[in-house]
Amino acid sequence: MFHWLEKRPFFFAVGVFLVIAFAGLIEIVPDFAQASRPTVGTKPYTVLQLAGRHVYIKDSCNACHSQLIRPFKSETDRYGPYSLSGEYAFDRPFLWGSKRTGPDLMRVGEYRTTDWHENHMWEPTSVVPGSIMPAYKHMFSQNADIETAFAEALTVKKVFNVPYDKPGMPKLGSWEEARKQAMEDAKKIASEMKNQDVKDAVARGEIPEIVALIAYLNSLR
Ligand code: HEC
Repeated sequence: MFHWLEKRPFFFAVGVFLVIAFAGLIEIVPDFAQASRPTVGTKPYTVLQLAGRHVYIKDSCNACHSQLIRPFKSETDRYGPYSLSGEYAFDRPFLWGSKRTGPDLMRVGEYRTTDWHENHMWEPTSVVPGSIMPAYKHMFSQNADIETAFAEALTVKKVFNVPYDKPGMPKLGSWEEARKQAMEDAKKIASEMKNQDVKDAVARGEIPEIVALIAYLNSLR
């Protein structure tokens, strides 16, 4: 039936394009449905969490960790419900990753705690015998860049209409207010930690990277 088509490369190419385009639409269109984009309940990152996200990117955690749970039983059993597109509404850039040397971290906030992360980042093998993940001790003495995180939040609020300062959403306000809020959030996390240097730094009004990073990891749900 399609014999004539095989001798006409141009129309054959058009035919191939149409078939692939149609299959593409069937895959892509359902994702635009509201049900697959539950932005309800998805909140923008607080300034402290955003600073932690910057640490995550800076130290290339995404080189070994993905943030995308696929709809396979082995993954949903280990990591929780599979990822939906709306959950990335405030991820700029998204951190899906393409390599899984370590576990997926999309919902790590559901099953790991502040003190677990503290021990794990200081010395991974102290909580996971045989772990090949590197230690990140420098995060305990290096301070997070809260100012840049605030600048990013302010920018996405203005440019992309990210709903900061809306009812039920994180407050941003002025730099002074945002800094104060970040400091309060940091105090809460430091109070659950045992590292004395970190506690002292937070008491002095500083925010070590590890505190921001843990705020971010705890927000992954
Ligand atoms: C060289 C690869 C590598 C890098 C880089 C890396 N990790 Fe890992 N990570 C692993 C491996 C392997 C494991 C599994 C063993 C373990 O739990 O320590 C792991 C485990 C974890 C876990 C436990 C997750 C779970 O579900 O049990 C967390 C949290 C984590 N990493 C966070 C981070 C963060 C944050 C960074 C960046 C600061 C980072 N990792 C960088 C390899 C890596």
